[in-house]
Amino acid sequence: MTLSAAQVRHSVLAGELRQHDHAYYIQARPVVSDREYDALYRELLDLEGQFPSLVSADSPSQRVGGAPLSEFASVRHAVPMQSLDNTYSPEEVRSFIARVQKLLPGEPLEWTIEPKVDGVAVSLRYEHGVLVQGATRGDGTTGDDITANLRTLPSLPLRLRGITPPEVLEVRGEVYLPSAKFEKLNQDRIAAGDEAFVNPRNATTGSLKMLDPKIVAKRPLAIVLYGLGEVRGFSGGSTPISQAGWISWLHDAGLPTPERHWVARSADEVIAAIGELDAVRRQFGYETDGAVVKLNNLSQRQRVGVTSKAPRWAMAYKYAAEQAETRLRAITVQVGRTGALTPVAELEPVFLAGSTVARATLHNEDELRRKDIRIGDLVVIEKAGEVIPAVVRVVTEKRTGAETSFEFPRVCPECGSRVSRAVEAISESGGEGDPASASPAKSTVVQRCGNPDCPAQVRGRLEHFCARGAMDIEGGGEGLVGQLVKAGLVRDVGDLYRLKLEEIAALERMGEKSAANFLVGLAASKSRDLWRLIFGLGILHVGTGVAKALARAYPNLDQLATASASELTAVNEVGGVIARSVENWFSEPQNRQLLQRLRNAGLNRDSALYRPADAPVTGPLVGKTVVLTGTLPTLSREAATAQIEALGGRVTSSVSKKTDFVLAGEEAGSKLEKAQKLGLQILDESSFLKLVEGAKP
Ligand code: IVH
Repeated sequence: MTLSAAQVRHSVLAGELRQHDHAYYIQARPVVSDREYDALYRELLDLEGQFPSLVSADSPSQRVGGAPLSEFASVRHAVPMQSLDNTYSPEEVRSFIARVQKLLPGEPLEWTIEPKVDGVAVSLRYEHGVLVQGATRGDGTTGDDITANLRTLPSLPLRLRGITPPEVLEVRGEVYLPSAKFEKLNQDRIAAGDEAFVNPRNATTGSLKMLDPKIVAKRPLAIVLYGLGEVRGFSGGSTPISQAGWISWLHDAGLPTPERHWVARSADEVIAAIGELDAVRRQFGYETDGAVVKLNNLSQRQRVGVTSKAPRWAMAYKYAAEQAETRLRAITVQVGRTGALTPVAELEPVFLAGSTVARATLHNEDELRRKDIRIGDLVVIEKAGEVIPAVVRVVTEKRTGAETSFEFPRVCPECGSRVSRAVEAISESGGEGDPASASPAKSTVVQRCGNPDCPAQVRGRLEHFCARGAMDIEGGGEGLVGQLVKAGLVRDVGDLYRLKLEEIAALERMGEKSAANFLVGLAASKSRDLWRLIFGLGILHVGTGVAKALARAYPNLDQLATASASELTAVNEVGGVIARSVENWFSEPQNRQLLQRLRNAGLNRDSALYRPADAPVTGPLVGKTVVLTGTLPTLSREAATAQIEALGGRVTSSVSKKTDFVLAGEEAGSKLEKAQKLGLQILDESSFLKLVEGAKP
């Protein structure tokens, strides 16, 4: 065959294969058998083998790309990928609509309602109709280049259909794993001795993060596209002017679009559409966790604008968590990194919101008592904060009398040490230092294993330190940490930095390569920013929010380590409970010694987030009350007040026992007399200025 004959045949084959992909994946109406399809595909591969110049970026052979990558490149999004604000009730939907109407007074508004697919957001870039790049959202501004992985998605066209394509078209959407495929994937994994994925979204994230596209190609990922990034050079007909117009344009271009969408003209219609979607969404075969309501008209969107986080023209309505009934077979108790004992419900496996649930958290002993949960009970479970299901209530009507109450252990199930029971302040999210935790507000009864060397606690502290949100040490997951502790190689996070290649490689299921990778991860962690280390140390009540606030307020670890609780409370976001917890942690001799070892290992101790303006003031005026009286020789009242406040003091007008200082000038009257009577400390301007001078940070 000549090259030109081959070119013709290649383009015919490529065209047919694309057509068949479209019929199969987009229209769900295949026209040829798998066998016929395979024959066409093989012929195409043969031709490309004979004439390598025929291989183009959008050839159907290019889905399963070449060699594994060593890392993903970064992609800066031309238009930021924002997130959405959430609403949970029809009232909130109404006020969202009213808010937008207020910004567009008198204008008729139209809304689209689409399923909110529970997957992973991606952005795809087509140039002249050919897929050239695919990226994750990342932090919204910069994501990972996962083009090779996205190419493997069979429903994603490598080239847009029909129409004259725009020069640049960025489309955005969600990659997801259909529920049935997820179940099958997990069954296969369990059979192969691998750990099951928690839910389809985690499985999707995990798949897209893989560096070898050949493995990604084996994951039956799907995609839906519902939004746009950069759009340029639109010549094929007129540009759509609405969301509904774009959905149909994208569909015609061969892209998978939302399987249903509604257009509504009033709040009532929007709410009705949200209800209709809820009635059909379980038949979609993939997880949806809400409805997305968007202003239909694009020029109105432009005028309404965006905030730093989300567009003002759209919002998500989250459906209530799904519930299921199942039998509680047993209650086990887990020990966390802070020693807290958490009862866990071992359930008869039940399918709930896209995955099989066999365990649920019972929080603590009080919760068990309050809900009167007994072994053998029929219980209602719910997926609340997405991943971890919780037991909502017992179906008491169906009790048989054979149920037994659970005796909470008085000794640690891991190490046998005595368990102490104490009322403790908790951060909003629970006692284990959740990333989002702010200042603790409530209190709860916590049972703790009092043995800091308890293997469960040791493992928990190490896993927390290595976790992605903390020091982000590749490979430092449950498996390796468990083995390191069991083998007696590490007792605390300081020991990690002394590990040797041979020691790690000798562990079960560890080769030289993964051992070396872990060492590389450890070395890289030495230069992490200070807030990650502060969070990673696992100080009670210190989540990422607090860790960052501390890293903004202190230039380095040494200054943080010597701060007193009262000084710490001057940091935004740090209340008394957190401040005391931080002070306690740093005053423990064992922790001081650990910090010394981390210093010797060469870990970064400086904070890149440090902002002097956030630094807490220290010195003789912090938390002190000062009364001004009389006329000072040089300072005005305002100037003196400003200085006192800048140094953390408070100016009040009347003298009492609670007053710490009285700053007195000429013609000071009754206030000075009262201060003298009470024996308070009295300052004149020059002693005040000396005090201030010495107090400056
Ligand atoms: S529109 C400017 N539409 O939900 C933000 N998002 O919680 C545009 N999502 O970040 C997003 N289905 O990852 C939009 N039909 C849909 C969606 C959807 C799922 C995801 C998306 C978004 C997140 C917000």
